[in-house]
Amino acid sequence: MRNKITVVGSGNVGATAAHWLAAKELGDVVLIDIIEGVPQGKGLDLLQAMPIEKRDSFIKGSQDYADSAGSDIVVITAGVPRKPGMSRDDLLNINYKIMSDVVGNVVKYSPNCILIIVSNPLDAMAQTAFKLSKFPRERVIGMAGILDSARFRAFVAMELKVSVENVTAFVLGGHGDTMVPLPRYSTVAGIPITELIEKEKLDKIVQRTRDGGAEIVKYLKTGSAYYAPSAAVAEMVEAIFRDKKKILPCAAYLQGEYGVNGCFVGVPVKLGARGIEQIIEIKLTPEEQAAFNKSAASVKELCAVINV
Ligand SMILES: NC(=O)c1ccc[n+]([C@@H]2O[C@H](COP(=O)([O-])OP(=O)(O)OC[C@H]3O[C@@H](n4cnc5c(N)ncnc54)[C@H](O)[C@@H]3O)[C@@H](O)[C@H]2O)c1
Repeated sequence: MRNKITVVGSGNVGATAAHWLAAKELGDVVLIDIIEGVPQGKGLDLLQAMPIEKRDSFIKGSQDYADSAGSDIVVITAGVPRKPGMSRDDLLNINYKIMSDVVGNVVKYSPNCILIIVSNPLDAMAQTAFKLSKFPRERVIGMAGILDSARFRAFVAMELKVSVENVTAFVLGGHGDTMVPLPRYSTVAGIPITELIEKEKLDKIVQRTRDGGAEIVKYLKTGSAYYAPSAAVAEMVEAIFRDKKKILPCAAYLQGEYGVNGCFVGVPVKLGARGIEQIIEIKLTPEEQAAFNKSAASVKELCAVINV
């Protein structure tokens, strides 16, 4: 049996996620969007790339959630992206309405799926999906930390002129200005980067990581990043379908972990066939814990506005 993945929202992130998923032959992909013709056109185009790529992934675009029925994973990218000068939080009310509509339809047709949430503001949208779907927390996962960590890894690799494969990094906390990059837990071939990069340079890399999304929005002007965000989605899907038990930073609903209760924040999780199989608690310094708490508080504030 082939796995089935639905991607809701066939814009930049959704369509590019479908591309990575199909190219990695992770399963058959259904693209959904409200804009008539867009998912159908992009789906057909991608399908026609498969003989060239030698991949047996079937892709179909649709407006009708009936086509998504029985999906194993549903990735939600529907929503409005940022424009220059906007923060992710500015998208709250409009994307809340979209998320409510989407989650209702997804749950109706795929009651046993694992949800991967991408729409911003990420943590608040993941919380919306969690509350409205009534799924267990293992099956609602927010994508942000992998992207933020990948940005950090790319900048470190550039700075040290080493392979990106050698660089591991952890960025925790909410997906926003309060994200918490952890240089202490970031390494190059096992060597802590704090021993390889002087503090001033490292601080600059940390700041560039925090502003990583805005830097791209400023260049693009009419939208936000999508290649790296959708590659991060594919990594999560692969970890789940291949039951890899991979430790990745994702937004998860915390129930006391890291001293936070009742909200989504980015933490290291173990991703496997059941979704989030474990939340890994690492020791934080008082400063890191304070930054983490600040991040959680800002997520809670947003969730209070939309009452989730
Ligand atoms: N979590 C992250 O790290 C991360 C990274 C990048 C983008 N994002 C977020 O992902 C979202 C999508 O970004 P994008 O660049 O693909 O935007 P986009 O505008 O290119 O695509 C969004 C798509 O959603 C569709 N849509 C809107 N309402 C819908 C509904 N009710 N049902 C189905 N589809 C609907 C739109 O028609 C559009 O095609 C944004 O909210 C963006 O901020 C998050």
